Amino acid sequence: MQLTRVPLEDWMRHYYFDTPIDLGSSGVYPYSFAEFKRITGFRDEALDALVFDDSDTMGAVGLRAAIADRWGDGDPDNVMVANGSNDASFLAMVGLLEAGDEVVVLDPIYHTLGSLLVSIGCQVKTVPLLWENQFAPNMDDMLAAIGPRTRMVVVNFPHNPTGVSISRTQQLRLIDACDKVGAYLVWDGAFHDLTFEAHQLPLPFPEYERAIVIGTMSKAYGMPGIRVGWCIGQAAHLAPCMLWKDYTSLYVSPWVEIVAQHAIAHADALCAPRKKEALENFAYLERWLDTQREHIAWTKPQGGVTAFIRFHHIDNTEPFCRSLAETCGVMLVPGTAFNNPKHARLGFAGPSKSFRKGLELLGSHCAASCPTHSPG
Ligand SMILES: Cc1ncc(COP(=O)(O)O)c(C=O)c1O
Repeated sequence: MQLTRVPLEDWMRHYYFDTPIDLGSSGVYPYSFAEFKRITGFRDEALDALVFDDSDTMGAVGLRAAIADRWGDGDPDNVMVANGSNDASFLAMVGLLEAGDEVVVLDPIYHTLGSLLVSIGCQVKTVPLLWENQFAPNMDDMLAAIGPRTRMVVVNFPHNPTGVSISRTQQLRLIDACDKVGAYLVWDGAFHDLTFEAHQLPLPFPEYERAIVIGTMSKAYGMPGIRVGWCIGQAAHLAPCMLWKDYTSLYVSPWVEIVAQHAIAHADALCAPRKKEALENFAYLERWLDTQREHIAWTKPQGGVTAFIRFHHIDNTEPFCRSLAETCGVMLVPGTAFNNPKHARLGFAGPSKSFRKGLELLGSHCAASCPTHSPG
C-alpha cells in the first residue's frame, strides 16, 4: 500500500502546538480532566477498580452499549470501538474494500475518507463540492455516479471543512441509490451533534442495513485526546474490519473506555456549553466577515465548527497562513490541505476571548498583506 502524505496533519504537527491562537481546529476546544469531572460528576474512585488488563477487540461491552443506545440501534454487537474516528474510518475502508473496488466520495473530504481509498487501489469517483454552488453536492451528479459496480459511497455531513449538509430528502435519495446497487454507505457523523443551521439528519444505521456510521468524542464533546471513535453497522459488516486491529492497536485502553463510557452518558452536558460558545463565536464571525468583504468571502456553514473562507486575491493561501502563524501567532489551515488553495479553514469553536483576538490579528494581517478588491 502506497500512502500519500497528509498535508493537513503535516500542517497541524508544525503549527498546532506552538501557535498561541487556534483559528484552525475542526472541533470545540478541549476540556481539562477537572472540568470533565465537574460537568459529568465523574469520581476518581470509578477508576480504582480498574485492572490494567487487555480489553475486547471490539471494545468493552459497556462502552459499546452506551454508543449503541445513543447513536445506534441499541445493540452493542453492532458497534466497534476504535482509537478515534480516524482509526474507525481506516478500519472500515481496509476491512470492506479491495483494490479495484469502485468508490464514490465527496471532494474535498477529510483525508482518511479520501486519499486512503487511492492507497487501497480503489477506482475513486469524486463528487466535487464547489464554491460556486456554496459547496452543496449536486445530488443528481452524485446519484449518477453510483452504479452497479459501486461498492461504497463515502460522505461526511455536516462536512469538514465547508460545514455543508444535505436535506432529509436528499439523504433518502442517497440511501435509496446505495440500496439499489448494494453499496456500503460510510457516513462520517463526526459533527452530528454540531448541526445548527440545517435540520439534524438521522444517522443512517439501522435505517440502511449497509450503512457504516462513524462517530467520535473529538469534535462535539471536547475530548479529542481521549482517542475514542467508533463504527456503527451490522455486526457482520464490522467483523472483517475488526480483524485489522490484530495488526495494529489490538484494542482501546480499558482506562480510556471507562472514562469514555461515562462521557457518553453525559454527552449532552459536555456538548452544550462548548456549542453555546461556538454559536456565539459564529454570530461574531458573521459580523466580522461583513467588515472584511474586500478581502474575504464565505459560504455560511450549516454545521460543524469550521468555515471554509475564500480570499479574493490570494491564489494559494499557504504562504499567507504561514506568515499569519509565524508573525501574528494565529493558526488557520490553508486550503491546500483540502485541495482548494484559494481557501482556508477557519475554526470558530475556540474560547471566545482568544477567538476574537485571533480575528482581530487576522484582519490586520489581511490589511497589511492582501491586495485589495472591490466586492462586485
Ligand atoms: C470528518 C472527520 N472525520 C474524522 C476525523 C478524525 O477525528 P478523530 O480521529 O479525532 O476522531 C476528523 C478530524 O478532524 C474529521 O474532521
